[in-house]
Amino acid sequence: MSGTNGNRLHEGIDWVGYVDWTVRDFHGYDTERGATYNAYLVRDEKTALIDTVKEPYAGTLLARVAALVDPAAVDYVVVNHAEPDHAGGLPQVLAALPRAKVVCNARCREALGEHFDTAGWDFHVVATGDELPLGKRQLRFIDTPMVHWPESMFTYLPEERLLFSMDAFGQHLASTQRFDDGLEPGLAMAEARTYYANIVLPYGRQVAKTLAAAAELDIAMIAPSHGVIWRRGVASILAAYADWAAHRPRPRVVVAYDTMWDSTGRMARAITEGAAGAGVEASLHHVRHTTLTRLVTEVMEAAGVAFGSATLNAGMMPMAAAALTYLRGLRPRNKAAFAFGSYGWGKGGPEAVDAVLDEMGWERIREPLRVRYRPGDEDLVACRQAGEELARRALALVAEHGEPGRG
Ligand code: FEO
Repeated sequence: MSGTNGNRLHEGIDWVGYVDWTVRDFHGYDTERGATYNAYLVRDEKTALIDTVKEPYAGTLLARVAALVDPAAVDYVVVNHAEPDHAGGLPQVLAALPRAKVVCNARCREALGEHFDTAGWDFHVVATGDELPLGKRQLRFIDTPMVHWPESMFTYLPEERLLFSMDAFGQHLASTQRFDDGLEPGLAMAEARTYYANIVLPYGRQVAKTLAAAAELDIAMIAPSHGVIWRRGVASILAAYADWAAHRPRPRVVVAYDTMWDSTGRMARAITEGAAGAGVEASLHHVRHTTLTRLVTEVMEAAGVAFGSATLNAGMMPMAAAALTYLRGLRPRNKAAFAFGSYGWGKGGPEAVDAVLDEMGWERIREPLRVRYRPGDEDLVACRQAGEELARRALALVAEHGEPGRG
């Protein structure tokens, strides 16, 4: 665990959250590197706690606060987001901070009332543009609805050019490091990408509005509710969010499949070879040998997707269905795609996949590619050609939408 100084953002502003080293399942998200629930303490003439932590870890947060300040002297608890990974510890925290008012927007007050008995809580309701003076510093509030829940908001501290951004710009990543520049290069961005794909992806339009609001702020540091604080990479993460919110594709093809006796697997490998030969980066994913978390992260930035399933009981295989259900909910856009798969005495697998690709609004470049029982040489040639065709269409889509600006 970092010492106090490692947790210090500025004189009088400290991280007081919890590092969850062992969590591997965050409501279905595979948190391979663990997670953090970040909370911050701002001490001035008035003292404000920004967010809390998951309920079991409220005691750790309170101990960190007590090491810095008399808990009875905390004036405000700002609630940027009511989801239980940040507000779950609120009842225990408020019980230990007798003076603290709960600072949140009207929707958050309502959401907190749905989660907890808030009858005795002293609320100070704020809206976009409101300011809360703390002494030499002040807090300013900006509503960011649907990033990630309806009541979400940012808290900005202009004197330090510091944005407390709750889920936005976060990463699931346990570390003793508190800042992006303390990690190996690229790691914070890679985990931010996974986080965006699995949590924020459906809300691109709202993210774009939030980025427009953020563009009016002078930002030197972004302190999210998960993972490390952006200090060196502020411009990079803002640019990455702009690309992701615009669903700007990269010249990549993802081939995902489930298979029974490897016929659909052989097709998948031939499609991958064909796509790679046509000038894109292609990757192959057996849906039972990867995670949904990883798969949607790959799909998010790909311009082309080939999705395959063998036929089982006149439909697709169950894990193919699970993967497509997850993808459909997250609504990745701007994809060229086609369905493929094998069948025996009755069709159904590739056709069922094709119906979901259509529902997602992806551009289907061809009819489902089917093989009866076992792909022969001619079938595999057709698979390679379909992969090439997908790659060509993917490259055209990238040109239409413009190459992502981030390195
Ligand atoms: Fe980290 Fe939407 O909660």
